[in-house]
Amino acid sequence: MKRIITLLLLILSMFNSGTAFARWTTIRNGQLWHDTDGNVVQAHAPGFIRHNGRWYMVGEDRTHAFRVLPDVNLYSSKDLVKWKFERKIIQNHVTTPELGRSRMIERAKLMRNPKTGKFVVWCHYEAGNYGASEAACFESDSVDGTYRLVWSGRPMGIKSRDCNVFQDVDGTTYFISTTEENQHLGLFRLSDDYHEAIAHTQLFPGQRREAPAIVRVGDRYFMFSSACSGWAPNQCKVSHTTDLTQGWTPLENIGDETAFRTQAAAILTIAGTKQTTYLYVGDRWMDPTLPESKIIIFPITFDGDKCQFHYMEKFDINFKTGEWRP
Ligand code: GAL
Repeated sequence: MKRIITLLLLILSMFNSGTAFARWTTIRNGQLWHDTDGNVVQAHAPGFIRHNGRWYMVGEDRTHAFRVLPDVNLYSSKDLVKWKFERKIIQNHVTTPELGRSRMIERAKLMRNPKTGKFVVWCHYEAGNYGASEAACFESDSVDGTYRLVWSGRPMGIKSRDCNVFQDVDGTTYFISTTEENQHLGLFRLSDDYHEAIAHTQLFPGQRREAPAIVRVGDRYFMFSSACSGWAPNQCKVSHTTDLTQGWTPLENIGDETAFRTQAAAILTIAGTKQTTYLYVGDRWMDPTLPESKIIIFPITFDGDKCQFHYMEKFDINFKTGEWRP
């Protein structure tokens, strides 16, 4: 009896100290993800929001490789591991009949606008051999609702390709894209309703960066980006500043020479009771085919203005405390 009580007390203390195995989620890299219906998750170059206690992820549906232009799928999950397919939220020609079938959607990114309560997607909206160089904005009343085209074109008249979004803590929201034939990065401030780009700052002129991803750590912004080498991975570089429109430090190498065979898509912030953990999410494209491209996740640590990638084939994360361990 005494032994049973001791065992029960031990289990209870494990739960209290947050070390109970039940709370750790294992993230495995390098494998295809399957959704809760058993289908391969198709959400490449993903974008994420937290909403009602769940992660929502949007991304490119590359099921048909190059035969059918990618649409945008929406999934939800509590732990970044078990993904439920919600629906296809943007389908070429169907969602945007006025724009026909010839559009290619890349790097769709999802946001919730706290001012309007709407869910907004910004994406790269391409046609031809990347000649259109346009973006598009879609909006829905609910996260899994009907997304309608709000606008498409070149933001503020500027040619725009690979892209991302960034919502700052004060509510200011940005669309960031590779501009003018991949020469620069453009930081576009969005209007309060997120419907249009209203201010432009050119960053990293002539440095040919793409796949940008920004995260705020304290008062400092870090931007990760890659060079332009199509599906082939290359060296990720990082820069930081305390003012998004100026003062970005010279680009510095981070991780190995291919970003562990990935290209950045998003940086997630897990604010736990014990610590805040930052997760890099990137695409391992053409692995070996386009539909089999993998989504890779690993922790990044920050120390002042320094940061480090911690690529691992698998690691555990505790979403409650924010802790992670190899
Ligand atoms: C990459 C880009 C991807 C996609 C691809 C096509 O450079 O990051 O989003 O456009 O090229 O080759």
